[in-house]
Amino acid sequence: MSALRLEGRIIIVSTLFALTLFGLAAMAINLFHVGLPTCLTDIKPFLKGEVITHSPDHFEIHYVSRMWKFEPEEVVVPAGATVDVYLSTPDVTHGMILPGTDVNLMAVPGVVNYARVKFDQPRNYKLICHEFCGTGHERMAAVLRVVDRATFDARKTVPLLPEQTNATYKLLETKDCLTCHSIDGSESIGPTLKGILGRATKLKGGKTFSADEAYLRESIVQPEVKIVDGFDDLMPKPELTDEELNQIMDYLKGLK
Ligand code: CUA
Repeated sequence: MSALRLEGRIIIVSTLFALTLFGLAAMAINLFHVGLPTCLTDIKPFLKGEVITHSPDHFEIHYVSRMWKFEPEEVVVPAGATVDVYLSTPDVTHGMILPGTDVNLMAVPGVVNYARVKFDQPRNYKLICHEFCGTGHERMAAVLRVVDRATFDARKTVPLLPEQTNATYKLLETKDCLTCHSIDGSESIGPTLKGILGRATKLKGGKTFSADEAYLRESIVQPEVKIVDGFDDLMPKPELTDEELNQIMDYLKGLK
């Protein structure tokens, strides 16, 4: 056989081999749902950790890695669930590895990375950062708990807290107020609503006064006019009827 014909055969055999490998990989992804980490460009970097339920056995987790923690810090899913993991970072480069699975992602500013994982058995997973990201690097960990279906379903029937069935609470929720203002005194993006009426309030620029009804009304309707010291001018003007505004004012008076 001439060298030329031999070379031709080698090319044909190696091409067939490469195609077979591609075919097997495609089959593995489609038939067996093997998760391959990919880089997505069609989802915007997010700043909020979140769990989205698509169906009883399909979840999407948006993990935010920041100096120096993961959000959400704990997620519970049922065994059998397929989970789409998205990872974003608002600060520096982090990593995320989920030992016991194929999930091994980089968190790069401006980019969202993705992996899909299916959890068959109940088990506690620990998610850690595997990219040195500063002094708090070794503290960066979160928990992903896979529990059996009955335990998971029992969790979801936890009754609402009494305040969550309140009509004004629901109104505040609908108007997105509670995204930034807590009602339990905890710090958030905006000042807590608990005990807000009569609270000693300091504005940016140093002016101090006691928050009265007129101030609260103004701050709801024109949030940009008076900014509380330590917070930013971030609140959008809510769309409220006079009736809704009065309803909220009554509710705030009762939040002691
Ligand atoms: Cu984040 Cu190391």
